[in-house]
Amino acid sequence: MKILHLTPELAPWSKAGGLGDAASALARQLAALGHEVRIVTPLYGSVPEREQMGIKLESSQVPVGGDPRRAACRVRSLAVAPNCEAWFIEHEDFYGAREIYPAREDTAERAAFYGRAGLQACLETGWIPDVVHCHDWTTGLMPVLLNTTLKDTPLGRCASILTIHNLQHQGLLSRRILGFLGLPEWLFQPAELECLGGVNFLKGGILHATRVVTVSPTYAQEILTPAYGYGLDDVVRRRQADLEGILNGVDSEEWDPRRDPHLVKSFSADDLSGKAFCKQAFLREMKLDPDLPIPLVGVISRLWEQKGLDLAARALPRFLRSGQLQFVLLGSGDGSLETEYRRLEKDFPGRCAVRIGYDHGLSHRIEAGADFFLMPSRFEPCGLNQLYSMAYGTLPIVRATGGLADTVKAWSPSARKGTGVVFQHADVAGIEWALEQALGLYGKPADFAAAQGQAMREEFSWSKSAQAHLLCYAKAIRQKQI
Ligand code: ADP
Ligand code: GLC
Repeated sequence: MKILHLTPELAPWSKAGGLGDAASALARQLAALGHEVRIVTPLYGSVPEREQMGIKLESSQVPVGGDPRRAACRVRSLAVAPNCEAWFIEHEDFYGAREIYPAREDTAERAAFYGRAGLQACLETGWIPDVVHCHDWTTGLMPVLLNTTLKDTPLGRCASILTIHNLQHQGLLSRRILGFLGLPEWLFQPAELECLGGVNFLKGGILHATRVVTVSPTYAQEILTPAYGYGLDDVVRRRQADLEGILNGVDSEEWDPRRDPHLVKSFSADDLSGKAFCKQAFLREMKLDPDLPIPLVGVISRLWEQKGLDLAARALPRFLRSGQLQFVLLGSGDGSLETEYRRLEKDFPGRCAVRIGYDHGLSHRIEAGADFFLMPSRFEPCGLNQLYSMAYGTLPIVRATGGLADTVKAWSPSARKGTGVVFQHADVAGIEWALEQALGLYGKPADFAAAQGQAMREEFSWSKSAQAHLLCYAKAIRQKQI
């Protein structure tokens, strides 16, 4: 199959969250299974390797409205893996800055441009995919283009997939995007792209993609309801017959405690002794008391309302005060939450460490050094960190939502089975209850070790995910032919 991915993030070149990891790993895995894969993504100012890239198209004229000088871009290419090429859209004005999602006056045009440029590159080079796989809201108008403006081009026969990695971010932007992309004005109506006086990118994608995927089976059910639908649940329900949930996986090249260059010692499910060294070294690195017989709870996260870390900040002081656990957080986002966690660090020296920012190496050392990993999300489409945690024998403490519910099995003391702690309610009491459970489990070393072993032996492979995507693509191609 020829598969084209359109994505605003592509790890390791650009990543704001799990989307960068997911798009990159899925594309490479599909290529490893023998398919021909191209990934279109912006060339942000932060990407260092541009001079080493090849040039696919020196000057492509993308048919967009407005200033004709803005329509031109260069397409650079880089072999990511055998059968898998990334096409970076180089456009200084749109993507020259370092940020992936800056707030700008031309957010709509900037979001839509690279996808449209990728489709143009297909037409100009004659590489016509069987499937166009779009990721999240910035790509939402591409399936609309395929069904309308590009219908009579060779791309008109392509099946399209929209993966919703997060329904909260929709791209509700100015209707002038229709003119920019050359989309017909009749699309501006409530039954189509219109939403609260603007154009909703994600709504367009949900309505027009041949099939819609989201990143876990539970989230696929949740987004049919008003509580999780962020105003689009009725639109999702219209596509219910073509909607499915496919779990993300773990990139074992990147996340494997047996061969992780960021760790002082390697370890495995059969021999966990190295993990104790990692914890010791990590506590010293963070200037936390190294010799306490208490668990270390870790968090690595964007600090957004989604993640429920405002609730955790209220649940934790009681446990830190009584010296029952140590805590480390790495993250950034909401300013007031950053301040709240910095205060927690000041209030509990030796027990609580907080690092505001983005740090790849540190994220590996937290996964290896912690005993538990806390994810009290209000919603979580899939979540990757609980998967990485399990691979590192760090038991996840999660709220039963989305992918967290699908991947973490609640520890049952009577059955001595389970891979983490699971709680139901997104509130302070829920998190307190979960932390009590975690402390109880840690207090029984044989049970704790049994849970660690089970967590480490779980398999969340991208290969499984890619196989499921291939079935989905085949269905979409069939649907498109009817
Ligand atoms: P989301 O995409 O909603 O942020 P995921 O759990 O799917 O959540 O993915 C988050 C990814 O981003 C993980 O790979 C995680 O390790 C990484 N990450 C998030 N914040 C940071 C940070 N401050 N430093 C390093 N890595 C981070
Ligand atoms: C989103 C979701 C997260 C998911 C990631 C990759 O950012 O918030 O749950 O794991 O995308 O699919």
